[in-house]
Amino acid sequence: MENPRANVAVQRRRRKGRGVVLFPLPLQGHINPMLQLANLLYSKGFSITILHTHFNSPISSNHSNFTFHSIPDGLSESEASTDDILAFLTLLNVNCVSPFRDCLAKLLSDSPQEDQPIACIITDAVWHFTQAVADTFNLPRIVLRTSNVSSFLVFAGLSLLREQGYLPIQESRLEEAVPNLPPLKVKDIAVIDTRNPEDFYGLISSMVKEIKGSSGLIWNSVEELEQSEMIKLGQDFPIPLFTIGPFHSYFPASSSSLLTQDQSCLSWLNTRAPKSVLYVSFGSLAKFNETEFKEIAWGLANSNQHFLWVIRPGLARGSEWLETLPDGFLEMVGERGHIVKWAPQQEVLAHPATGGFWTHNGWNSTLESICEGVPMICSPCFGDQKVNARYVSHVWKIGVHLENRMERVEIDKGIKKLFVETEGEEMRQRIMHLKEKVDLSLRQGGSSHQALESLINYISSF
Ligand code: UDX
Repeated sequence: MENPRANVAVQRRRRKGRGVVLFPLPLQGHINPMLQLANLLYSKGFSITILHTHFNSPISSNHSNFTFHSIPDGLSESEASTDDILAFLTLLNVNCVSPFRDCLAKLLSDSPQEDQPIACIITDAVWHFTQAVADTFNLPRIVLRTSNVSSFLVFAGLSLLREQGYLPIQESRLEEAVPNLPPLKVKDIAVIDTRNPEDFYGLISSMVKEIKGSSGLIWNSVEELEQSEMIKLGQDFPIPLFTIGPFHSYFPASSSSLLTQDQSCLSWLNTRAPKSVLYVSFGSLAKFNETEFKEIAWGLANSNQHFLWVIRPGLARGSEWLETLPDGFLEMVGERGHIVKWAPQQEVLAHPATGGFWTHNGWNSTLESICEGVPMICSPCFGDQKVNARYVSHVWKIGVHLENRMERVEIDKGIKKLFVETEGEEMRQRIMHLKEKVDLSLRQGGSSHQALESLINYISSF
C-alpha cells in the first residue's frame, strides 16, 4: 500500500523550499520572540505559516502577511491554566501530537503545488514532541530557544546535578556554588515548582534530548553577552547554532501582545523628569501571595521614588486587580505612582523618564532592558529568571539583586541603591556600555548580523 507520508517526503526533496512553518509555545514570553523571528524571516523573502494552539492564540489580524492554522489543544476548561506551568506544558506536549502531525501532513501535501514549498519547521524548544513528527516527514526541524544560553546550560546539566545530590534543592545548601557553572549558586538552579516534580525533570530532559537531534538551534541572545557559555554549549551540542538576537530590535513585541497595552502610561511618563521613574513589571506569568504583594506596595510607597507599576489582573494570587493593595496606598502615593494592567513595555523602557526597571528577569524583559540601557532591580520568581538575575547582578553588574523574600525595607534599600547611590550610577554606565556592544552586533559585520545571514543561507539550502 502507498505510504502518503513517504510520498510527501519524496515530493519535498525535489524542490528547495522558501516556506517556513513556525510553532510558538502559547505563552506571551515565547510568542513574542517567535513572531519576531517570523517577521525577520518574512523580511528575508520566506513565506510564513504559523501553527498555534487554541489556548492563547496569537491575534492573526496583526500579521496579515502570515498564514495561520489553529490546532486543537484538547485542554478542558480546568486544564487551560498556567497555574502549574509544568503540568500544563507536559499535557500540551501529549495533546498536540496528533493535531500537529495532521496539520503538517496537510500543509506538506498541499505545498508541492504552491510556489514556496516548505523548507523546514521552526518550533519552540519546549515543543519536544515536534522532533519525532518532523523526522517522520523527513523535514528539518530548527529549534528556537527563547531564553538565553546561560540558563540553558543549567537545564542541560540538570540530570548530572540531580545525580550529584543538588536536587531537590536543600535549604542548607542554597549558598553553595554550582560546580562548573560559575557564578551560580544552588539557589539559582532553574527549577520550576510543580505538583509532580518528575514532570519537571521529564520535560527538561526531553527538551534537551530532542534539541540534540534537531537540525539547528536559534538563540534570541547576543554572542558578546555570553561568550564562554556559547563555547561550552558548542562542545555539548554539535549542531548549527545561530545567535541572532535581540529580535525586538528588528520588530517590536506590541503586535504579538495578548493583552491590550495601556498607552496612558506614556503620557504620564512625559510629565516626569529624565531617569526619575522606576518601571515595575513581573511579566506575564509571575504571581505573588498577599503578603509579598503588600510588601512590594509598601516598598514602593516608602521609597519616595516615582514609579509605573504593571499590575496584571491576578498578579496578586486570587485577586481581580487592585483589591489586595494596602488600605490607603493609592491616596498615599498620589501622582507619584501610575498603575496599569499591561504596558507598552518596549516604549516604556525607551522613554527618557525611565531610570530603572524592577523586573522578574524573564529573558525578554532582561534583554529589552539591556537594549535601552536601563539598569535593573532583580526579583526572579522561577526557572531561567534566577539564572538571568545572577548574570545581571554578578556577571554584567547592571542590577541590584533582591536575594531574599519580598520585604519592604530591602526593596526600599534596593531602589535607593539604584537611583541615589554611586553604585547605581556605575551600573548605569556599565549597561550603556553593554547596550553599545549589542548595537554593534546588529550592524553589518557584527556577530548577530553575521549569524542571521548564516541562518538564512542554511534554511535556503534545505
Ligand atoms: C516567560 C518566562 O517567565 C521567562 O522566564 C522566560 O524567559 C520567557 O517566558 P514572561 O514571564 O512573560 O516569560 O517574561 P518575559 O520573558 O520578560 O516576557 C514578557 C514579554 O511581555 C516581554 O516581551 C515584554 O515586553 C512584554 N510585556 C511585559 C508587555 O508588553 N507589557 C507588559 O506590561 C509587560
